[in-house]
Amino acid sequence: MSELAKTAQAMVAPGKGILAADESTGTIERRFKSIGVENTEENRRAYRDLLFTAQGLAEHISGVILYDETLRQRCADGTPFAELLAKQGVIPGIKVDTGAKDMALCPGETVTEGLDGLARRCAEYVKLGARFAKWRAVITIGRDIPSPACIAANAHALARYAAVCQAAGLAPIVEPEVLMDGDHSVERCEEVTEWTLREVFAALASQRVVPEEMVLKPSMVVSGKDCARQASVEEVARRTLKILRRTVPAAVPGLAFLSGGQSDERATEHLDAMNRIGGAPWKLSFSYGRALQQPSLKAWRGSAANVAAAQAALIHRARMNGLAATGQYRSELEKKAA
Ligand code: 13P
Repeated sequence: MSELAKTAQAMVAPGKGILAADESTGTIERRFKSIGVENTEENRRAYRDLLFTAQGLAEHISGVILYDETLRQRCADGTPFAELLAKQGVIPGIKVDTGAKDMALCPGETVTEGLDGLARRCAEYVKLGARFAKWRAVITIGRDIPSPACIAANAHALARYAAVCQAAGLAPIVEPEVLMDGDHSVERCEEVTEWTLREVFAALASQRVVPEEMVLKPSMVVSGKDCARQASVEEVARRTLKILRRTVPAAVPGLAFLSGGQSDERATEHLDAMNRIGGAPWKLSFSYGRALQQPSLKAWRGSAANVAAAQAALIHRARMNGLAATGQYRSELEKKAA
């Protein structure tokens, strides 16, 4: 088996998933604002230090996605973060896109940028210790959108990114996120997500991307945030599995879902429900940002005195999601921890 295929398999090892800690400086500003913490380089470093030094992180976390700045930072004792993670058996990864930008001639839609100079940046990231990469495409549901143009452009960019990464020695996480924002129905989300995945895998094949050497990071099929009828956990699990089976080759080793604004417990329940249904040809795991970090951020509030509590909150969510990744989560475990 190739090194990249081994990395992709390790990213979705049984009972483990990925911690997305790759918030750009602008995104972390929004998270810090919610807890009244100033967005300085040192605060960003201290927060990531807290996350990556949490005791027992490796038990349920296979890999961490870092942001460019974070990959160059060090923990308090001077060890580079990538080295600290690798020493614990956690694989360091790197976000390589440069963000979703307004798409020309497609009002209300975005296309993700970052292909120019990508091969050169990937070569540097490999030297800094990264072994996998992430690129997020964003699909918005609204009146008359998504457009075929937006889906095609994002699928093409994801495929070009994945090809460049595999050539550079990084296992790509391919993330086409269909946003939850809006009042659309779960049926509409299902239709758009299936359409998106179909186009993404067609583009990946045409760019010669090796499916065994990547991880898909999909969004779940859920009701729009403002839709009156909210699909149940069971319905979300069934609809999501249905379209994934239709579109994702069995050669892909695993899928690591994003949480996309779901509450932390709901994201865990959805993953657990899919694994309980079972029978999928790929591992079904998590690559959560907010759903792993939210309780931790709230516990921290920027104070060194709260670091232990914040770390405990992170480890608890990692454990709950690790159980969900094998269909063994029970909500009573939440209360016990509280
Ligand atoms: P969320 O789980 O908060 O959606 O973040 C995952 C991620 O990495 C988005 O690119």
